[in-house]
Amino acid sequence: MKIAFIGVGNVGAPLANQLQKLGHAVAIAARDSSSQTVQSALNRNPNLLVQSPLAAIESADVVFLAIPFGAIESALTPLKSALSEKILVDCTNPVGANLTHGLQSRFSGSETIQQLLPDVRVVKAFTIYGYENFEDNRYPGYGDVQPAMLIAGNDTGAKAVVTDLCQQLGWEPVDTGNLSMSLHLEHMTLLWIKIARVQGRGAGFVWAMLQR
Ligand SMILES: NC(=O)c1ccc[n+]([C@@H]2O[C@H](COP(=O)([O-])OP(=O)(O)OC[C@H]3O[C@@H](n4cnc5c(N)ncnc54)[C@H](OP(=O)(O)O)[C@@H]3O)[C@@H](O)[C@H]2O)c1
Repeated sequence: MKIAFIGVGNVGAPLANQLQKLGHAVAIAARDSSSQTVQSALNRNPNLLVQSPLAAIESADVVFLAIPFGAIESALTPLKSALSEKILVDCTNPVGANLTHGLQSRFSGSETIQQLLPDVRVVKAFTIYGYENFEDNRYPGYGDVQPAMLIAGNDTGAKAVVTDLCQQLGWEPVDTGNLSMSLHLEHMTLLWIKIARVQGRGAGFVWAMLQR
């Protein structure tokens, strides 16, 4: 599969690296190919392609979005027509002051992106934990139980593709429903940050899905 990354910082770089190693053709949609994040992603994995944002998006089947929420409008607006009909994996979180929801919990960041790009197939994924768990999602000692990755989106076909990518990466995908469920996922992120980083539990924990 051809996958492009807009943003290869803490979140984008480990996911891009792992997906390339799984055999996907992974391109960095680089606004500046000499930037520190692009260079360190390449140091980690020299097999990542570096392209202009337009070239990377035009040839991609799936686009991962992993940039600060505040940069979304300026980054995505010039790519609007290239992104048309593509699957966009929204890894962003709108985080506000003092760890509040950045859109005052009125609607999710993912729905804001969907509104900006109405014909893009937005799927929220890879958001509810700190990036350390995207670097390494192995939790020894739990048998076959895999860490859960909660996703949300309106397009069933797009969610099937993202579900498959989650499984390839060693996550148990949990489809929470339509994109409006992203608001709850964004609140889960705040919960995770408060437990892990504010209360000091540390970044090495995730949720699992136990079902009967
Ligand atoms: N950090 C976490 O633990 C975590 C976990 C889950 C989700 N998230 C969410 O994931 C997103 C990325 O977080 P991060 O920690 O990976 O950030 P980061 O390490 O600061 O990396 C940000 C990336 O976005 C790019 N970027 C910044 N402004 C841009 C713009 N205007 N246009 C295009 N690209 C731009 C940067 O590229 P340059 O090199 O060109 O500046 C860089 O590659 C955020 O929305 C965050 O809330 C973070």
